Amino acid sequence: MLQIRPMTPDDAESARTFVNGWFSVYRDHLDYDSGVWNALRHSLWRHGDLSLWATWDGQPAGMVMAGRRAVTFDGQRLVSAHVGPVAVNPFFRRKGVARGLIRSLQDHAASAGVDLLSLMAQEIYPFHKLYTATGFRLVERFQPLGAQFGDLQVPDWADPVPVDRWDAVRPASQAREGALTEQPPASRFLEGNPDVPVKAFHWKGAGVLVALWPVLVRVGSTRERVWSCQVVDAFGTGQALGLVTATALAWARRHGCEGAYLMPTVGSVPDGFSTEGAPWVHRYCKGVSAAGTSAVEQATRYDQACPAP
Ligand SMILES: CC(C)(COP(=O)(O)OP(=O)(O)OC[C@H]1O[C@@H](n2cnc3c(N)ncnc32)[C@H](O)[C@@H]1OP(=O)(O)O)[C@@H](O)C(=O)NCCC(=O)NCCS
Repeated sequence: MLQIRPMTPDDAESARTFVNGWFSVYRDHLDYDSGVWNALRHSLWRHGDLSLWATWDGQPAGMVMAGRRAVTFDGQRLVSAHVGPVAVNPFFRRKGVARGLIRSLQDHAASAGVDLLSLMAQEIYPFHKLYTATGFRLVERFQPLGAQFGDLQVPDWADPVPVDRWDAVRPASQAREGALTEQPPASRFLEGNPDVPVKAFHWKGAGVLVALWPVLVRVGSTRERVWSCQVVDAFGTGQALGLVTATALAWARRHGCEGAYLMPTVGSVPDGFSTEGAPWVHRYCKGVSAAGTSAVEQATRYDQACPAP
């Protein structure tokens, strides 16, 4: 029988091991080593009360991780429970475990004052039906922007910013009209996570915050661990943004990265990034309060009227 309960700190180690195994169907996935898992616990999921753990007749059956994020919509401030990863033990799939986890998460989130659930998933994978079947709405479809480093040769123009000062140097972001904008977790990435390299740079009114994530890529029958550089946040324009980005990317390359990516939700887009070859991503939301439901409805209509280029 399926049982679902809040995840506790004692579940963390098993959850980490299971999620790595349960995602191994994919060509590549984040390597949830202990450092990465702890970093995410302290930043993305730090209100751990929203993450849930499922058992089936006492056996580990699945989990959903979720953490609160600030969201703005049309001048309103809302709270989302950002969902992911959701993973179910292959032994217990297609028995309604994920559906049960999402339903419980929705109940927990609503009673904890959350307005909406939100998540992102790559378009090429087959499980989207899970989200539409559980009442999520597609609010945005986009391609992350990527940059190849190639022969990047740059001096260090920009100054590193002490990570805890990122929010102080960053101006408030400009939300895209009609979009549900989630505030990037920005400086929260910088707390308590010595194992995830994170660096912020700032120069003449422009700034870039990058985080390096270890990814396991399937190569033949084994997996290779490579670094992936995510631009978590950026602000500024023109030459200043170009130079500060070049410095950040040079730093990432020194750590073994060969390219970088950023989401359109990131404020500014430096030159040199393009969507060429990037997989499409779906962003889904589901309202759990009256304000959240109304914002999701409106954002869905906006996205259908103005699809991403
Ligand atoms: C995706 C995943 C979480 C689904 O878990 P699950 O417990 O098997 O899902 P459920 O039984 O609750 O499925 C509910 C509905 O979702 C849809 N669904 C679930 N898995 C699906 C799949 N692989 N392909 C297509 N539809 C799927 C179906 O509509 C299903 O209803 P049905 O069985 O009545 O047709 C599980 O396959 C998994 O852990 N995969 C690896 C990790 C992953 O991909 N996570 C999601 C991305 S973050």
